[in-house]
Amino acid sequence: MIEKIKQTADYLRSQVADIPTTAIILGTGLGSIVDYMDDKQYIPYSQIPNFPVSTVEGHSGNLIFGRLGNKRVIAMQGRFHYYEGYDMKQVTFPVRVMKELGVDTLFVSNAAGGMNKEFRVGDVMIITDHINLFPESPLRGKNDNSLGPRFPAMTEAYNKELVKLADQIADEQGLRIMHGVYVGVTGPTFETPAEYEYFRIIGGDAVGMSTVPEVIVANHAGMRVFGLSVITDLGGKDITQVPSHEEVQQAAVVAQPTTLAIIKELVNRC
Ligand code: HPA
Repeated sequence: MIEKIKQTADYLRSQVADIPTTAIILGTGLGSIVDYMDDKQYIPYSQIPNFPVSTVEGHSGNLIFGRLGNKRVIAMQGRFHYYEGYDMKQVTFPVRVMKELGVDTLFVSNAAGGMNKEFRVGDVMIITDHINLFPESPLRGKNDNSLGPRFPAMTEAYNKELVKLADQIADEQGLRIMHGVYVGVTGPTFETPAEYEYFRIIGGDAVGMSTVPEVIVANHAGMRVFGLSVITDLGGKDITQVPSHEEVQQAAVVAQPTTLAIIKELVNRC
């Protein structure tokens, strides 16, 4: 795997003059952060050696190098989900490449279903921790010590300083911001009412089908991580409303001003 990572990183270095140290993985419906980037250079996944190609509607599939405010960033437009059939090494390959390129801070965003009874559709939740319910770890198999330790700690999977800074920004700008634990599951089904209830009881505030694999690998690689979930629907034992893919996209649009403000400001201050 290490050769593939280096080959992909070499290709990107040959295409991009100034490689940023900050990367953002854009989740469902949050892609419009790209509209706020300047000096953009698009590299389609299909042109990047060893990169999987993304298949889901609403995920375009580009690495975008550019500036967000005064900071250079790499934006990943379109991510690879386990439910699409990619294996865990494919899902997390871009994070390995980012690390090889010198990225030390990773921002992730996603759409999630809310179990916390305080949450409303369109809320934005700072991910303070996660519960990994994927059937497989991206670190399963022989460990390459040059990529990270065999048994990495996950005690601060989401950097506390960045959470504090985000809270400060939300406070300054008068933005409603929630905190919570993200439960990562395979999908692609939304949860049954009993499952939402179960995830709430075990300590989850929101549930989604991404993020956890990338965050595990980023931590393995020693990167700082900050994550946001957009609450696109609510789930629980008394809630029988069925979220459609379109409603999820719509709620993500509603939350956009908040996610944009937080990410833009945080990227520039950290
Ligand atoms: N469950 C799982 N994933 C999701 C949900 C949900 O309710 N909403 C958006 N992504």
